[in-house]
Order: sequence, then structure tokens, then C-alpha cells
Amino acid sequence: MRIRILSLFVALCALSPLVAQAQTPPVGDVNKGRAMWMGGGGSGFCMLCHGMQAGGSFGPDLAGGRGLTFAQFKRAVRQPWGVMPSYPKIDDQGLAHLYAFLKSLPPSTGDKVPDWSVANPPAGAPLGQVLGVQFGCGQCHGPEIAHPRRDIGAKAKGFDFEHFKKIIYETAPPTMGVFNKDRLSEPIAREIYNYMLTAGWRTFLWGTSTIKTEGANQVVTVTVDNKGEKDKGLAGEDITVSLLVPAGFTVVSGTADVGGKYVGVSKGVEYVTNPGVLSPFRLMNPNPQVKKEKGDFAIFTIKKVEAGAKTSVSLTLAGSGFPTMTGSTITWNKPAIKRPASVTLTDDRTAAKGDILWGPSPEFLLPARPAGK
Ligand code: HEC
Ligand code: HEC
Repeated sequence: MRIRILSLFVALCALSPLVAQAQTPPVGDVNKGRAMWMGGGGSGFCMLCHGMQAGGSFGPDLAGGRGLTFAQFKRAVRQPWGVMPSYPKIDDQGLAHLYAFLKSLPPSTGDKVPDWSVANPPAGAPLGQVLGVQFGCGQCHGPEIAHPRRDIGAKAKGFDFEHFKKIIYETAPPTMGVFNKDRLSEPIAREIYNYMLTAGWRTFLWGTSTIKTEGANQVVTVTVDNKGEKDKGLAGEDITVSLLVPAGFTVVSGTADVGGKYVGVSKGVEYVTNPGVLSPFRLMNPNPQVKKEKGDFAIFTIKKVEAGAKTSVSLTLAGSGFPTMTGSTITWNKPAIKRPASVTLTDDRTAAKGDILWGPSPEFLLPARPAGK
């Protein structure tokens, strides 16, 4: 007997490091967790559904950890209980960072459930739009699911519902997570897809700019790049590039590549300011920080940019200092946005006519101000 107990004891001692290893979660880093919470490291933009400080929004408050053990937390992210997408690509170490970050926050004490980042569309909105918001797509993509319609526009030829299903259930980018068929079932997916199709696939136009000093002048060159796949993506047609003439500068001249034209300066045009916060992941719609102002714009037109092609326009400015081109836009009329007449909740990043990219934003990359300018 004594021998038996002793051997059991010995066996347990031998096992215990193993047991301890399996139960001890990796050590998390609060700062890394915070970055992941905000969408860094392919983590899933948790904050868009759970709030910046994890106070809750579309999903429950998680600040303070909600009393979950690491194992429970891990299961909730890998196999969510309800409509939340799952994040199979976040490894245990990443989960430990997120867990550490949440644990570091003071638990929320408010008695009111915070608003969703993107509100439910009002009565009368198309069913697919309502479902798109209620199943979480809208929290990341806005009420009109504009970005995915552009991603699809970049490979529109032959794209159908089968491709769409494959994305949302299997191949979605790690930052999006994959949806569970038992929660977001096929009929719901089809309704969301039909809404997106009716609103129309968008051209994947992208703007970048450079600024070069030439003598006393500054030359701003904007490249309009159609990121669509050659022969598969949609062409952009009837394009307008509007460059807001920065204060303290005057326009000397404008030039454009073949197919483009410099039209001239339009004075006193109303434009939207503070578009930086209109990034794809801005938190409120409409965004209260957006203001309308008046300014002068140098206008260029471009007939067409095929998928996979690019073209550029240049503006020569006289003046001193660094011309900040904030407020500039690229818009196009074809393919047009086909908003169903009943849509009352619109995305403040897309214009009523044609389409629009605000600058600066991840879509319209403006050069950083060099040191000392
Ligand atoms: C599309 C919105 C959405 C996103 C994005 C999202 N969640 Fe959730 N989350 C929810 C909802 C809604 C719930 C409630 C359960 C459900 O419906 O799945 C939830 C529940 C949870 C729970 C379980 C809470 C509990 O009490 O059991 C955890 C943990 C969690 N989310 C963590 C995360 C983390 C970490 C991320 C980012 C990697 C994330 N969530 C991203 C919507 C989201
Ligand atoms: C947690 C945030 C998040 C949620 C929730 C989310 N997405 Fe995404 N989705 C992304 C990101 C990030 C991308 C990649 C960049 C982009 O298009 O904005 C993406 C890309 C896509 C793409 C293009 C993928 C490709 O392979 O071309 C489609 C289509 C899409 N999402 C549809 C949806 C639909 C439909 C829903 C709701 C069922 C949804 N998304 C929910 C974040 C999200």
C-alpha cells in the first residue's frame, strides 16, 4: 500500500509540470494586446464591435475581462456563442495579449448599453442592408458595405454568390474573421449579397501623391491607380480629380497624362473637412467631426482607367512651405452608385452621385510633411 501511494505521488510529481504547462496561458503583453484590439497584427478590429475601451457596443463589454478565465476567453473567440465572427488565425500568444489588455482595463460601470458604431437602419431600409448591420458586417464596413463592394469590383467578372459565401465562411481576411453558417445562414448571406449587388460593385480606384520642389514651385503629382485585376476588375470612367489649393499657394499650371485633362480652378467650392477621421473604420456615422468649408479646387478630368492600369495628373503651385493637400478627392461617375431609393442610412464616405475618396485616408495617400516644413 505504502509503495502504491508513494508511486502515485511520484507519478503525480512527474506529471505536474506537464499539467501546469497545459493550463498556464502564454504571458500576454498589454501594449501588444491594445494594438491588436485596434486591428493591428491581423487581429480582428475587436474595438469596432466591443468599443475602443471595451465598454461594449455591438458586442458585450469586455473591460476587466468580464470574469472570464483565459480558457473561456479563448473559446469565445475561437467558437463564438452567437453572431460574432471567429478568429482562427489569432494564435494562443495573440489571445494572451488581448486577454492581458482587457484585464488591464477598469470594468465598465455604466448602466446603459452603449450605442452600436453603426446604428440599425431605419424602417423601410432594404432587408439586406438591415441584416448586414445586424449581423456585424456594418460595424466594420459601414451601413452600405462599401469596401467589400469595392473589393469585389476589383474582380467582378464572373463573381457570384458562391464566391461570396466562400469569403464570409472560409477565406475572409484574418482581420475580418469567419462567420458561422449556423448563425449567419445561407438565406441571410444571400439577402446581404443581393443588397450589395443592387447597390453595385465599385471600381477599386486608389490615389497616391508625391510633392517635388522645382525652383520656387511645388509640383503635386497624383497617381490614379485602378487596383482591379486586369481583365476582371471594373474600369473607372468619367473621373474627376479635385485638388484643394492649399492656403498660401497659387496655381501655376496643370498637366495630365494621355486621356486626362486639366480643366482649371473652381473657386469657392464647398468641401468636407477633417476627412482623416473618415477612415474605413471611423466610429460614427454620420461623423460629427466632419465639417463643410469653402475652398478653391484645381480640377482634372480623366476619361477612363482600366483595371490594372494607372495614370497621373500634376499641379504646379507657387508659394512657400509644404502644400498640404487635405480635402482633395477623386470621384467618378461610372460605374455609378445605385442606391436603392429606400436607403435612408447612407455611408458618409460615399457620395450620392458617382463615388468618392476622401483625402487623406488610407485610400488617398498624401505624402507626409517633411521635417522642418
Ligand atoms: C462583428 C462584431 C464583433 C467583433 C468584430 C468581435 N466581437 Fe466579440 N462578440 C460580439 C458579439 C455580438 C458577442 C456576443 C456573443 C455573440 O453573439 O457571438 C461577442 C462576444 C465576445 C466574447 C464573449 C463574452 C462573454 O461574456 O462570454 C469575447 C471574449 C469576445 N467577444 C472577444 C472578442 C475579441 C477578442 C475580438 C477581436 C479579436 C472580438 N470579440 C471581435 C461581436 C464581435
Ligand atoms: C471585424 C471587422 C469585419 C467584419 C465584422 C466584417 N468584415 Fe468584411 N472585411 C474586413 C476587412 C478588414 C476586410 C479587408 C479590407 C476591406 O475590404 O476593408 C474585409 C473584406 C471583406 C470582403 C472582401 C474579401 C475579399 O477576399 O475580396 C468582403 C466580400 C467582405 N469583407 C464582406 C463582409 C460581410 C458580408 C460581412 C458580414 C457578414 C463582413 N465582411 C464582416 C473586416 C470585417
